[in-house]
Amino acid sequence: MSLKLLEPIAFSGLRVKNRIVMPPMGMGYAHEDGTVSDRVIRYYLRRAQGGVGMIVVENCIVDPNVVGVGPELRIHDDRYIEGLRRLVRALKPYDVVVGLQLNHMGRQTTLGTPIAPSPIPISPKGPIPRVLTPDEIRFVVSEFVDGAWRAREAGFDFVELHAAHGYLICEFLSPASNRREDEYGGSLDGRLRFLLEIIAGIKERVGADFPIQVRLSGQEYVPDGLTLAETREIARRLEQVGISSISVSAGNWQTLHYIMAPMFMPKGYLVEDAAAIKAVVRIPVIAVGRLHDVEVAERVLQEGKADLVAVGRGLIADPEWAKKVMEHRREDIRPCISCNYCVDFVSRALEARCTVNAELGEEFLFEIRPARQRKRILVIGGGPAGLEAARVAAERGHEVWLFEKEKRLGGKLHVSAAAPSKKEIHRFTDYLIRQIEKHRVRVELGVTLGREELLGMHPDVVVLATGSVPTIPPLPGADLPMVAIAEDVLLERASVGHRVVIVGGGGTGCDVAEYLLARGREIVILELLSHIGRGIEAITRRWLYYEFKRAGVPLLTRHRIARIEEGRAVALDERDREVILPCDSVVLAMGYRPSDDMAFCLEEDFPVPVYRIGDCVRPGTILDAVAQGAHLAAKL
Ligand SMILES: Cc1cc2nc3c(=O)[nH]c(=O)nc-3n(C[C@H](O)[C@H](O)[C@H](O)COP(=O)(O)OP(=O)(O)OC[C@H]3O[C@@H](n4cnc5c(N)ncnc54)[C@H](O)[C@@H]3O)c2cc1C
Ligand SMILES: Cc1cc2nc3c(=O)[nH]c(=O)nc-3n(C[C@H](O)[C@H](O)[C@H](O)COP(=O)(O)O)c2cc1C
Ligand code: SF4
Repeated sequence: MSLKLLEPIAFSGLRVKNRIVMPPMGMGYAHEDGTVSDRVIRYYLRRAQGGVGMIVVENCIVDPNVVGVGPELRIHDDRYIEGLRRLVRALKPYDVVVGLQLNHMGRQTTLGTPIAPSPIPISPKGPIPRVLTPDEIRFVVSEFVDGAWRAREAGFDFVELHAAHGYLICEFLSPASNRREDEYGGSLDGRLRFLLEIIAGIKERVGADFPIQVRLSGQEYVPDGLTLAETREIARRLEQVGISSISVSAGNWQTLHYIMAPMFMPKGYLVEDAAAIKAVVRIPVIAVGRLHDVEVAERVLQEGKADLVAVGRGLIADPEWAKKVMEHRREDIRPCISCNYCVDFVSRALEARCTVNAELGEEFLFEIRPARQRKRILVIGGGPAGLEAARVAAERGHEVWLFEKEKRLGGKLHVSAAAPSKKEIHRFTDYLIRQIEKHRVRVELGVTLGREELLGMHPDVVVLATGSVPTIPPLPGADLPMVAIAEDVLLERASVGHRVVIVGGGGTGCDVAEYLLARGREIVILELLSHIGRGIEAITRRWLYYEFKRAGVPLLTRHRIARIEEGRAVALDERDREVILPCDSVVLAMGYRPSDDMAFCLEEDFPVPVYRIGDCVRPGTILDAVAQGAHLAAKL
C-alpha cells in the first residue's frame, strides 16, 4: 500500500515533497551570541539528507533582551542574516521546504527580564513580569516583523510564529495570562490583536505572498488557560487573515508534559486536537506529539486528522526516519523512547544529547566508516553498551562475537523498563537486538568465559561491557529475609509484603515505588537528599512527584536508614531523631557499583587490548552506555 506520508502537498506557493515535518527544536548548538554555528548546520543538514519534506528551524529570538535558557538562535539584528543564509543554502539542495520559527519568550525566560501582557508569574514563586505598555507592544510587533523580513532575506521559504507553549504570543492569547483591560486584552478580539498585528505587519513589510505558519497550543491544560473551543475560533480567524498553515501543539511551562511528552503519555496524544482544528479550517494542519511510530503517523493522515505530521524527537533519534520509511526499512528506524534526556540537556543550558543516538550533535564528525582492517572483536556483556558497540563494530565490517552470561540480551534495559511508565524502553532493546542479528554478530547466551577459553578464541580486541551490581552498604538487618534488592523486585525475582519501606528515592527507588504502587502496596520512600528522583529528567520527575503525592506516599526526604529489625525499619531524620517505620518488607535502592567480572582481562600480562565501556566503568545511564559503545566501536 502506498503511504500517504510520502505524498506531496502544495499550499501557499510551497510544494512539500512528503508529509513529514521536522518541528522546531532548540538544541543549544548555536553560538553563545545566537549566530548559526557549523554544528547547527550539520545537525539540520543530516535531517534534510534524511528525507524530511519540511524543516521548521528552531525557536529564533526576535528580542535582544528576553532570551531563554542558553545559546539560542537569534534574529534581532541584520548581523544574524548571514549565518541563517548559510544554513538555508546548505539545506536547499535536498528539496526540503525550510521555515524559521520566530519567538519572543515573554515571561518564560530564565536569563532575561520577563515581560508579559499582565503581571502574572509563571509559577507562584516566579518573578512578577513587567507589563508591556501599548507602545511597547507595538515595538515587539515590529521586532517580529523585522525578524520575518530577515528570515526572507536569509532565504527561508516561510516563517512560523510561535504562538504556543506559553511564550509571549500565547500569553496574549490565553485568558490565564492576559488580564489586560485595554485593546490588547479582554475578549478574544483583544487577546488576538497582538498576533493579528504581527501577521498584518509581516504581510505589509515582507510581502503578502510570504507564507506565515502559526504554531498554537490547542489546549494549555491549566486553569483558565486556552481551551480547544477557543483555539478553534482563533484558527478560523487566522485563516481569514491569510496564514498558510497551522501547527497544533499544546501546553505551556506549567504543563511541559503536554509539549514534550514523556513515554507514559499515549502515542498521538494531541491528534484529536489537531483534528478538531482541521475541522474548522481549509488550510493545512500539522499534528505533532509522539507520532514517531510510522503506523501511528500514517493513520493520522489516512483518517484525515491532519495534513502533515511532525516527527520531533523521532528525528533527533534517527535523522534518516523519512528515508527509512521510503526505503521500506521501518525496522531499522532507531526508536525515540521519549525519555526526554535531550530536553533535560537543553533546559540545563547544555547542548542536546540523545539516549539512543550517539551521533547527535556530532553529525558528519562521528561516522561509521568501513574498518581498514577486519578484526575479531569479543564483546563481553549484552547490555546497551555491549550491544551498541557490537552493532557499530559489525556495521564497520569487523567479526564480532558477543558473550552474555544471562539467557537473554538487554542487560539492565530490562529492569529500566520494569516500571509501568517506562515500557517504551523495550523498543530500544528490540531495535538493538534486531540490528546485531542483521549485522550477523555471533551471540552466545548463558556464557561466562574464563581466561584460557577467551584467549583460545584469538581475539584482536576485547570489549568489557559487564555493567554494574547493586550496592549494599553494611547496614544492620540488611540480611533479614524481609529485605529485598530493588532490581530483584522489579524483575520479579523477589516478592514483598503489603507495607514496604523503600530505601533510596533516586531513579531506581522511584521505579520500584511506581511498580509497587501499581500493585496496590502501601509504600514509604526514604531519601537522604532534600528531594526524590535525582537523575530522572525534570518533566518526568515532576509528574512522578505529583503521582506519589496523589497516592499519599510519604516522601521522607532528608532521612537516612539506621537499621532494619523484624517488622520495622528505623530511620534517622535531619536531627538524628529516630523514626520507626512498621513494615512487612524493606527494598534497598541504594545505588550501583561497577562489576568486577572478568577482572583477569585487566591484568598487566593480558596479551590482548582490552577496552571497558558503560556501567562497568562508572554506573550511569543508557545514554552513557550507548555513547561509549558507539564511540569506541567507531575507532576500533
Ligand atoms: C532500576 C533501574 C532503572 C534504570 N532506569 C534507567 C533509565 O530510565 N534511563 C537510563 O538512561 N538509565 C537507566 N538505568 C541505568 C541503565 O540501565 C544502565 O546505565 C545501563 O543499562 C548500563 O548499560 P551497560 O551495558 O553498561 O550495563 P548493563 O545494562 O548492566 O549490561 C551488562 C551486561 O553484562 C552482562 N555480564 C556481566 N558480567 C558478565 C560476564 N562475565 N560475561 C558475560 N556477560 C556478563 C550482564 O548480564 C548484563 O547483561 C536504570 C538502572 C536501573 C537499575
Ligand atoms: C529538545 C527539544 C527542543 C524543542 N524546542 C522547541 C522550540 O524551539 N519550539 C517549539 O515550538 N517547540 C519545541 N519543541 C517541541 C517540539 O517541536 C515538539 O512539538 C515536541 O517535541 C513533541 O513532538 P515529538 O513527540 O514528535 O517529539 C522542542 C522539543 C524538544 C525535544
Ligand atoms: S533523548 Fe530520549 S526523548 Fe530525546 S530524542 Fe533521544 S530517545 Fe527521544
